[in-house]
Amino acid sequence: STVKPCDFVLFGTKGDLARRKLLPSLYQLEKTGLIHQDTRIIGVARNEMSLDEYVALVKENIEKFSGEALCQDTWQQFSAKLDYVKVDMKDTASYGAFKEHVDASRTMVCYLATPPAIYGDICKGLYQADIIDASMRVVLEKPIGHDFASSQVINDQVAEYFNENQIYRIDHYLGKETVLNLIALRFANSLFATNWDHNCIDHVQISVAESVGIEGRWGYFDEAGQMRDMVQNHLLQILSLIAMEPPTDLNADSIRDEKLKVLKALRPINSHNIADKTVRGQYTSGFVKGEEVPGYLEEPDANQKSGTETFVAMKVELDNWRWAGVPFYLRTGKRMPTKSSEIVIVFKPQPHNLFKESFKELPPNKLTIRLQPDEGVEVTVMNKVPGLTGSSAMDLQKTKLNLSFSETFQDERIADAYEKLLLEVMMGNQALFVRRDEVEQAWSWVDSIIEAWESSNEPPEPYQAGTWGPVASIALMARDERNWVESS
Ligand code: BG6
Repeated sequence: STVKPCDFVLFGTKGDLARRKLLPSLYQLEKTGLIHQDTRIIGVARNEMSLDEYVALVKENIEKFSGEALCQDTWQQFSAKLDYVKVDMKDTASYGAFKEHVDASRTMVCYLATPPAIYGDICKGLYQADIIDASMRVVLEKPIGHDFASSQVINDQVAEYFNENQIYRIDHYLGKETVLNLIALRFANSLFATNWDHNCIDHVQISVAESVGIEGRWGYFDEAGQMRDMVQNHLLQILSLIAMEPPTDLNADSIRDEKLKVLKALRPINSHNIADKTVRGQYTSGFVKGEEVPGYLEEPDANQKSGTETFVAMKVELDNWRWAGVPFYLRTGKRMPTKSSEIVIVFKPQPHNLFKESFKELPPNKLTIRLQPDEGVEVTVMNKVPGLTGSSAMDLQKTKLNLSFSETFQDERIADAYEKLLLEVMMGNQALFVRRDEVEQAWSWVDSIIEAWESSNEPPEPYQAGTWGPVASIALMARDERNWVESS
């Protein structure tokens, strides 16, 4: 499908997400020529602002957050598409103001970059102003709720006015080039496709480390914690793409049906096994990249008694045929030594070792998928060290086959995840968006873990900022005679 003209309405245009990500991404799409020339971008906030003031504000954001000098031609075309409407988003009677700004001949895309608590009001306001039609699309940002029950409330509110095929739930990890590449790697390469199960794979590691702390978002983050902020969505989505069965095609529901089956196969974690399967941590002060940083409880606005986790490590098992006996180890945290997201697939050892003289145990093959930064794919293999030896013994060395995106695709810029997702919404393709049943399934699995943590009354384990988390996370692996693969 091609990109048709649309009225792209950005609710919460003055908010952090819109400023940092959405407006710069729209600008990049303009630069690439991917926004239809008749498309309008309509910012919505509750402030009184003239169009000129809005355009100046957008320009300032793009200069600040796009990470490059403004391209005058692009800006000219882009700014001509901008429009602004003042709406008190909570006042459902105030949406009539839209009428003169939108055009029924264009598809309307409403991006709700607002607190989820007002999604219902926005939908209702649009309905009362008689703006909703069957072609309209609505984009929802996370967090969709705080647990299963609250996600249902929000999803029900939106479902009163929109059908599921009009609703685009964002998980921005699904727009990352390297996450999408998982589908290509797995299903376009028989080498991987035929070695992708419990017969060949020993275990899988998914690590999403961030060097940043909570960046002034204490209020939000402390209510959420790393489990709700990262695991419920991003990590479980990555896991689903790694573990899913081959879909019949690349259509939205074919892929989402398969991801849902994975989520349904997650073995429950509850008070019986919580201590064996999970580790939660909270950072204390330390040094990250040579800079001294405060602990979580010393951040501005902090409640010093907070027991919220900023790190999670867990052993996840899938009760299905393909993955029986293959653990997925997940870890994610703030204030780690560096920003790095990686998936490591560790293969089973060879049945018999011919090379005992140089390796008592042959190291396993590993497939590493570097999601960010330095996007790439790497396979560790054993290789003979070239050279003559006087005996039949061979000298082996662990080596790497390394595909670096920046070297292989030198002329391609790696687009921000939001660029990809905004484009997909404009094209009306739902494959990279999360379906309601996926959100609910993920929440119900996560709810049971959080409940078990709460009833255990154990505080999170401290770890120093700038380290890889509490030592218990190492112990979690060591109990299974495994260890975390160091980030490459
Ligand atoms: C967001 C979380 O969804 O993802 C943030 O709310 C986190 O806490 C961010 O920092 C990480 O995204 P990325 O793309 O930088 O890995």
